[in-house]
Amino acid sequence: MKHSIVNRSLAVSLLMSTAMFASAQDTHFLSSNHCIYRISADKNVLLLPVQEKAEVCNVKVVDGNSNQIKAFNIRLASNHIDYYVPLYLDKLSSKQNLSLDIHVNGSYRTDGELAGFTCWKNMKYADSFDTTNREKYRPVYHHTPAYGWMNDPNGMFYKDGVWHLYFQYNPYGSQWENMTWGHSTSTDLMHWTYQGTAVEADAWGTVFSGSAVVDKNNTSGFGKDAIVGMYTSAGENQTQSLVYSTDDGKTFTKYAGNPVITSNVPDFRDPHIFWNPEINKWNMIMAAGQHMEIYTSDNLKDWKYESSFGEGYGNHGGVWECPDLMKLKVRGTNEEKWMLICNINPGGPFGGSATQYFTGTFDGKKFTCETAPEVTKWMDYGKDHYATVTFDNAPDGRHVAIAWMSNWQYANQVPTMQYRSANSIPRDLDLYEYAGQTYCGVTPSPEVTAARPKKSTKTLTEACEVVVSLKGTSTITLSNELGEKVVMTYDERARTFSMDRTKSGQKDFSDDFAAITTAPLHGKITHLRLFVDRGSIEALDADGRMAMTNLVFPTKPYNKITLTGRAKHQVFNLK
Ligand code: FRU
Repeated sequence: MKHSIVNRSLAVSLLMSTAMFASAQDTHFLSSNHCIYRISADKNVLLLPVQEKAEVCNVKVVDGNSNQIKAFNIRLASNHIDYYVPLYLDKLSSKQNLSLDIHVNGSYRTDGELAGFTCWKNMKYADSFDTTNREKYRPVYHHTPAYGWMNDPNGMFYKDGVWHLYFQYNPYGSQWENMTWGHSTSTDLMHWTYQGTAVEADAWGTVFSGSAVVDKNNTSGFGKDAIVGMYTSAGENQTQSLVYSTDDGKTFTKYAGNPVITSNVPDFRDPHIFWNPEINKWNMIMAAGQHMEIYTSDNLKDWKYESSFGEGYGNHGGVWECPDLMKLKVRGTNEEKWMLICNINPGGPFGGSATQYFTGTFDGKKFTCETAPEVTKWMDYGKDHYATVTFDNAPDGRHVAIAWMSNWQYANQVPTMQYRSANSIPRDLDLYEYAGQTYCGVTPSPEVTAARPKKSTKTLTEACEVVVSLKGTSTITLSNELGEKVVMTYDERARTFSMDRTKSGQKDFSDDFAAITTAPLHGKITHLRLFVDRGSIEALDADGRMAMTNLVFPTKPYNKITLTGRAKHQVFNLK
């Protein structure tokens, strides 16, 4: 599979009439670890060959004034090419007399002399970079970057009919590196347009996770309705930096006073800001090792530490990351409660990454959890639901969440190459009560339901929603002619729902992938909504009381659905 993709991509690029190979004279080897590469053509793009198993090269882009204008890390192909990534020369601050200073860390070398690498004779210049999809697992209605690696959703906001999704992005390879905010937009939460990179690394560090708000009253002085983002600068230490945009999130300017918050705590990151009308101030919650810190601000620039939450509460099997904090309605009551989201890695119920949450009260300064410290509540009982956060300024006071559909246990190894990782479908959050506890309700957003065609069928397709009406214990099996299958079991008596992906298809890329995930149920499920999109299955109770998200990599698409028990199904094809 891997080779056919490689050959196809090479063939495609060779056919590209605009592409031209760089010349061997462009390289100047100064040692077995160090090369200066002169950029000799006046083209928009330099295509760099990547081999995922090669070692990381550190690249500095140097302009004609001998200034470093960019730096990134890339696994330049040493003996075989997996794919190409673009260095957009036309987007650099200067295009004249450019050179690349390329270095491989000597003490870890296993790849032989740099001069022997296959990359040099395969570097190419082109007018544009071809992002036509080459991946059979690329989802149809879930967001993926056009190319490159993605993890957490960042800085999500809604404004003037457009949903903005930024994300942890590596534009120079499909594995975690070079953290940058990528950007995509959508008007219906189901079809996304990749907009390129929005916030790039600087001298304070690479750009880790964070959030963004619409500053309606210009509290920051950056302008009315400016988009203000806050993220973690991952440098020598993790510090928090601000960016702002006066063109609706298209381009960002770094704030001159960065970093705005510093600390000597090692895992100090992922600030989530929101306007709190109850105190007429901005609030911010961020992760600090094994707890969350809460801050207040009048202007988004000056932040006051107020309190910490988390010691002794919930699951502490890993690092606390990517928090969110919001007030939600409790279904069927006039009550509202606060919910604190805490993503944790590792420590998830089936290993690796997962999303836990706490319910309680919040006075603008301090979050008080209403449940006993030993109680852990999970938002999703699959293995591939992480870094869940919500959009700022969503219409009608909604709280719309999106997760990263992967798990740090194997995210870098899943069998795709042109891109790696997708996001979950958008889900509206609320609260409900069951057996004396308050839980988070997770329901597919109305935009997802609106995407259904008028007519349903019975035939399973690669990209669809399957609605299963259940009357008691049943199993639902998705399978293909190779015998690969996913078995879902609704056990009404045991009050569980489970998904078995141990025979789902490709799984040998990680020992942690094959799994059976099981969710406890809070009441009966009468309608189950299954979102199948080539490489993922999200199973959600239509009433929002159970969610389970799992990746699958069938060698051929599942084309058969088999039900046992008193269950019926309908298939809505999604495009
Ligand atoms: C979570 C995380 C964040 C961090 C980012 C780096 O997946 O580890 O805590 O900001 O990824 O990419």
